[in-house]
Amino acid sequence: MELRVEPDATAVAAAVAERLLQACRRGRRPLGLATGRTMEPVYAALAERWEALPALERAVLSQCWSSFNLDEYVGLATSDPRSFLSFMHQHLTAPLALDPARVKLPEGAAADPAAEAARYAADLAAAGGIGLQLLGLGLNGHVGFNEPPCATDARCRCLPLSPATRQQNAAAFGGDPALVPELAITLGLAEILAAEEILLVVTGPAKADILRRVLEEPPTAALPASWLQQHRAVTVIADREAAPWVQG
Ligand code: GLP
Repeated sequence: MELRVEPDATAVAAAVAERLLQACRRGRRPLGLATGRTMEPVYAALAERWEALPALERAVLSQCWSSFNLDEYVGLATSDPRSFLSFMHQHLTAPLALDPARVKLPEGAAADPAAEAARYAADLAAAGGIGLQLLGLGLNGHVGFNEPPCATDARCRCLPLSPATRQQNAAAFGGDPALVPELAITLGLAEILAAEEILLVVTGPAKADILRRVLEEPPTAALPASWLQQHRAVTVIADREAAPWVQG
């Protein structure tokens, strides 16, 4: 994996936004998108660049936009502000004026979440699989919602969230982990590792220990992100706080 260290989260966001824009311009396979606090400045930087594009290019890129998000909570109403659908609407779909039908997520309000996971996986496969996959990193080493332990053949599915993840994501639920949904639908490591290229984005001092383990430990189910070492085209873009051991 190539590790690129930027001075701060703003520089990380700028670098990632550039890569996303390049991938849009190539327009071959769908983008794989992520939510979370790490991604907020990334989408803000993308929106800034998008706004500065000539109107014609913006129109062309909008018309061929295709993205699949990694994951969604199960059981929240579609309009719930804490859903990842709402997050994407606020940070990407609305600022870029994209057709919401082109910004896909698993439907967390579906009556049968297991069937919804299968439908979403089939939809992604029909679209050709992911081109550029954007990933954040969970404090327990998860990517998407692939909680440890997780093997490389795990596919898109509905699964229970770990207490650690519900704690990590409690801020959006008034700070109470008990209010964080118990289940989620996530793309599996199988779909993630099938992407043409992967960008793992990591910022802030709280992620330094887990990032170092992901980069240095032999790949293991106990640390789902460590499987990324086996992919041929992964770039880790981190800020100095998340990779303090790197000199310069
Ligand atoms: C969440 C999401 C991940 C996200 C990660 C990091 O639980 N399911 O896709 O990348 O955890 O989140 P944050 O960027 O808020 O630290």
